[in-house]
Amino acid sequence: MFTKVNEQMSRIVIQNLFNRTINSDVVDCKVIELIHENGIDWMHACGKKGRCTTCKIIVVKGAENLFPLNESELNFATQGRLQPGERLACQAILHSGEIQVKVAEINKFPHIQYSE
Ligand code: FES
Repeated sequence: MFTKVNEQMSRIVIQNLFNRTINSDVVDCKVIELIHENGIDWMHACGKKGRCTTCKIIVVKGAENLFPLNESELNFATQGRLQPGERLACQAILHSGEIQVKVAEINKFPHIQYSE
C-alpha cells in the first residue's frame, strides 16, 4: 500500500525489513540519516561519504520524492555499480513524502533478520 503523506512529512518504508516504517517531520534530509536516527542498522562502509555502495537502497516506489542523482551517484551509475532505481542512502535526499525501499541483498547484515 502506498499512502499519501503530508507534504511536510517524510516517510520511509523498508519493505524487506518487515515494512519497517519511519515517519518524520524532517524534510530535505539524507535517507541514511533518517534511517540511522531511527535506530536501524544500515551499512555505510565509507562513513557516508559517497565513496562506496554499501549503503545502497533499491527504490521500489516514490523515487520522484528524492532529489536527482548527485555527482557521486552518477559516477557509480556510469560504472554500472548503481543500477536504475538504485540510490546511495548517504547521498540521496528525500525532499518529502514517501519512499518505499529495499536493502540490497549484498548489503544485508548477518545479524539482522530480513523479510522478502
Ligand atoms: S556509505 Fe559509502 S557510499 Fe554511502
